Amino acid sequence: MSHAEDPAGNRRDFLYFATAGAGAVATGAAVWPLVDQMNPSADVQALSSILVDVAGLEPGSQLTVKFLGKPVFIRRRTAGEIEAARAVPLADLVDQNARNPNTRATSADDVNRTLDAAGEWLVMVGVCTHLGCVPLGHAGDYGGWFCPCHGSHYDTAGRIRRGPAPENMHIPVAHFVDDTTLQLG
Ligand code: FES
Repeated sequence: MSHAEDPAGNRRDFLYFATAGAGAVATGAAVWPLVDQMNPSADVQALSSILVDVAGLEPGSQLTVKFLGKPVFIRRRTAGEIEAARAVPLADLVDQNARNPNTRATSADDVNRTLDAAGEWLVMVGVCTHLGCVPLGHAGDYGGWFCPCHGSHYDTAGRIRRGPAPENMHIPVAHFVDDTTLQLG
């Protein structure tokens, strides 16, 4: 069992992987110094942004960084995950709000949940919208995330599909500054 899959694990670690393939581990080694270096003191943190190097993140992998005191999931989705998310009719969703401040679009259609038009990059605040636990990646009945605290299932777009959570996982302010560098904040 990996660190991140252990519900009793220490969630306060600065950086960990929810799903660690060899590619993701290699990415972590590259990402850590950058994020660590740019981690500001607490008093200026609220005003800051961070850059994350995602060059080594393979499709199907997820990187988690801590930003503004919360985990942020950076998932590079596979074609299958994108297809599954895009096949879901809006009417089937519990929460039909995109919860995405990076677009004016408001519907929770999959195209409004990702940072790129192709739908590979899904970046979310990794906090369950029920009572704030950190959901586990690549888990649950919809292949996205599962919150073990009270059983909320999220799909591959981070949208709540079953369980007590009322809202889709929220998307932070984020954008790519170049092909492989993501800015949070
Ligand atoms: S905190 Fe996630 S289901 Fe309750």
